[in-house]
Amino acid sequence: MDVRGYIEANSGEYFAALKQWLAIPSVSADPARSDDVRRSAQWLAARLRATGFPVAEVWETGGADGRDGAGLPAVFAQWPAADPAAPVVLVYGHHDVQPAEPLEEWHSAPFQPAERDGQLLARGASDDKGQVLFHDLGVRACLAAGAAAARSAPPVTLKLLIEGEEESGSPHLADLLRRERDRLAADVIVVTDTSMWSADVPSMCVGMRGLFDAQIDLTGPELDLHSGSFGGAVPNPLHALAALLAGLHDADDRVTLPGFYDKVAPLSSRERELIGRLPFGEKQWLVTAGNSRAISGEAGYGTLERLWARPTAEINGMWGGYTGPGGKTIIPSRAHAKVSFRLVANQEPADVAAALRAYVAAATPPGIEATVTPHGPGVRPAFSPTDSPAVAAGRRAMERAFGREVLFTREGGSGPEADLTDILAAPLVFLGVGLDEDRVHAPNEKVLMALLLKGAEAAAYLWDELAAAAPEITAGRAGSG
Ligand code: BES
Ligand code: MN
Ligand code: MN
Repeated sequence: MDVRGYIEANSGEYFAALKQWLAIPSVSADPARSDDVRRSAQWLAARLRATGFPVAEVWETGGADGRDGAGLPAVFAQWPAADPAAPVVLVYGHHDVQPAEPLEEWHSAPFQPAERDGQLLARGASDDKGQVLFHDLGVRACLAAGAAAARSAPPVTLKLLIEGEEESGSPHLADLLRRERDRLAADVIVVTDTSMWSADVPSMCVGMRGLFDAQIDLTGPELDLHSGSFGGAVPNPLHALAALLAGLHDADDRVTLPGFYDKVAPLSSRERELIGRLPFGEKQWLVTAGNSRAISGEAGYGTLERLWARPTAEINGMWGGYTGPGGKTIIPSRAHAKVSFRLVANQEPADVAAALRAYVAAATPPGIEATVTPHGPGVRPAFSPTDSPAVAAGRRAMERAFGREVLFTREGGSGPEADLTDILAAPLVFLGVGLDEDRVHAPNEKVLMALLLKGAEAAAYLWDELAAAAPEITAGRAGSG
């Protein structure tokens, strides 16, 4: 039986298992769900052991030094190739999910997976459990297919690191990567947590933006004041916040933080050309953007350039004062906002943190006190070397699965990929089959089931492609010359 035939024959069992996993509400942001995140890790480790991985362990994170409290567990699995010289591949993904709120907007319960018109609906169906689990099906297919006698080990040494804190900014991942550097050592890192251009235009992500996010708190008077007795004579923190936030962009929608663009790498003509090859239709794209009615953004750039190669500032939330029924004539004591910045090469989250502090200090009027509290250290942008043999192998594998040319895209979203590639010193290959219309992080998250099977097929081919290109793939090993 060939890879495709095996996957078709076993798709029912794969989706049944996936539904079980999706029923575990592994929301990393919610401390009340930490047991569920642990159960999710245990479920995956058990599944991988059943598939045949000789090593499948739950790895605890954080806690040891007390910093940030205890972390949420990751799963590590390993299946050595028969040939000890075969390439070593590390697959990265995550088993935690975003909170499901607002629950009333879901058409079916977020943690009771439902099937409709070839789609699987559940929180985590696309981001990222459905995609992580296609690797389990992929390796089963890779072993069952091809040779007359089924293989007992994959053609590459396969390692999986599936973390449980990605949706919370991966606070313990860098420490874990350093601590377990030897067991995680790999020639290639395959990241499965991104999307494709569309169901009929397969593509490979080659870069992700970085991120810095923070909360801004302004305090004026010690208590809410009567706006008749005091209004007009003391500073109002909500006014100050509104002005400060409005000032984050200039008339060209450029970000005004001091030095924000200093390290931004300009778009190369090759990048512009690759972006230009994609069949971008503004109307169609606006539909996927929640039926937004207009395009907007930094002057001088196209939509995909803005999304993939330009940095941003966004207000994620703002609150303060009275928001209940009726009116309340007060000057509020406090005002709050959450802001985030997407970063591109070669911006550093720490520089943006410093620039935001300087901007807020300068924009805060006398009589108001401002604090900026970063949500974490932030995330650096990440790239895969598009001319590397590993990326070429990934593209061949996807082209075999989809039967079409695979184009290059980037991702506007973020993740810990820069730490993975830097700390483990191996190139990134993105193998993901999500779509922009999957409603990740939103109510009614879904995934196209046929694409998950394509992902499994591409993964199965990828292990053979990497094994076939072994001399090139392992050429970067320390001491190999
Ligand atoms: N899988 C996403 C990244 C992504 C976003 C890929 C959009 C493709 C399209 C990942 O799980 C994610 O949501 N990352 C967060 C990172 C943050 C919590 C540090 C993001 O981008 O907001
Ligand atoms: Mn994800
Ligand atoms: Mn996500």
